[in-house]
Amino acid sequence: MARKSNVKVKDRETYNGRLTKQLKGVIPKFDEFFKKEKFKSIIEIGTGNGIFSTYIAKNAKEMEASFITYDIRAVAKDIKKELDELGCIVIRDDMNNHRKEIIAMIKKPERCLLLIDGADKTEPVEFFLNFLKKDDILLSHDYYKQDGDYLSKLFYIHTRHIDLNVFNNIDVIYRDLFSDYLWLCMKKELND
Ligand SMILES: C[S@@+](CC[C@H](N)C(=O)[O-])C[C@H]1O[C@@H](n2cnc3c(N)ncnc32)[C@H](O)[C@@H]1O
Repeated sequence: MARKSNVKVKDRETYNGRLTKQLKGVIPKFDEFFKKEKFKSIIEIGTGNGIFSTYIAKNAKEMEASFITYDIRAVAKDIKKELDELGCIVIRDDMNNHRKEIIAMIKKPERCLLLIDGADKTEPVEFFLNFLKKDDILLSHDYYKQDGDYLSKLFYIHTRHIDLNVFNNIDVIYRDLFSDYLWLCMKKELND
């Protein structure tokens, strides 16, 4: 059953004066991340209201990366227009219907960033981690640090564990940068 996030409006990040679903302060952290890490392809699962996607789209455009975002819900018309103008492909559909095309995009010989902030986050994270190439990054939302480990914290439901030991050559990076904002950043260090 869908439930509302309990992140209060005052605790939410804004971009160009509009509210995202992210925690306040995360955009400067992503600015820092994008200063260091460049990609040729960016895929987002969970467009939400699309405001954070406009921020990602601006960065994708600057680094000349393709950007595609998936959500079962539609974004508002003005946001869709803005995303279109930034060159972002907006797919309004269940991402489960697009797994094959997402895998094909990851497999292309260009550096890929996969952002997962939608659907049942743990399962797609574990699924797509298997397809990353060397240097690709998967950033997944709603994880927080606890007892030196990362658990998936769905704000209002429960916590889940992701055991990164079962994946080959995946490291958690940018812990200090992202953990207060509940993003878990995983990099494929070597091809299998
Ligand atoms: C937390 S919101 C995304 C917030 C957005 N990334 C932001 O920062 O503003 C999660 C989104 O995932 C979408 N979602 C849930 N299940 C999905 C699925 N199977 N395929 C695609 N999107 C899905 C929901 O409709 C919802 O908009």
